[in-house]
Amino acid sequence: MTQKLVVGNWKLNGGLAANEAFFGAAGALAGVDAAVCVPFPYLAQAAARLRGLALGAQTVSEFQSGAYTGEVSAEMLADLGCRYVIVGHSERRALFGEDDAVVGRKAAAALRVGLTPIVCVGESLAEREAGRALEVAGRQLDAVLAVIGAQALARVVIAYEPVWAIGTGRAAGVDEAQAVHADIRGWLVGQGAAAVRVLYGGSVKADNAATLFAAPDIDGGLIGGASLAARDFMAICQAAASVA
Ligand code: PGA
Repeated sequence: MTQKLVVGNWKLNGGLAANEAFFGAAGALAGVDAAVCVPFPYLAQAAARLRGLALGAQTVSEFQSGAYTGEVSAEMLADLGCRYVIVGHSERRALFGEDDAVVGRKAAAALRVGLTPIVCVGESLAEREAGRALEVAGRQLDAVLAVIGAQALARVVIAYEPVWAIGTGRAAGVDEAQAVHADIRGWLVGQGAAAVRVLYGGSVKADNAATLFAAPDIDGGLIGGASLAARDFMAICQAAASVA
């Protein structure tokens, strides 16, 4: 079995001094793949200071270069040593108007330069309560597939992040999460990409990580709040290593 992947998503947090403390205390751990996705301005600092953890960004432009003020291209991320980039995080979808088609184009932009897009999918509370969780994840995945094509799917990581679990302290129950992950796995099998890693995200902490990661179709986690302190993040990585 491939080892688990744990990815930190710092969101709009960090600072040169605070980051030093993180990089000084975080490091490689046997038996788990780990990465942190830091804000753009800190990519160079992270690239220089990270030991044993891979580097990622939190979004990317769908465009390669030109008159797109404020955008950061996949080429630039690769230049700075990124391996991963998150695309389609629910905060980008809800707050910055990114729709399924944009998410697909961003995933394609990442793939073009050899970055691994971490494609986020997941339903809102209203959608879950309406019994539409599987349908929403399926629609979001189909939209990305339509842009990148089945051949490229093997080079993607998927993150199932129910919107109601993000930053709320209310993680999905392991059975609840596993049910969606199993559905996503079925979809991947249908596309000939069964080995693609499917991460769970939404209020993963050191004390629930091992239980979630032990589920058969949960291949690791995308960690927000608990990735800001090295101690918490490393404890989650440790939990992943222990169930791998
Ligand atoms: P959280 O965020 O761990 O703080 O819930 C997860 C995410 O948004 O990726």
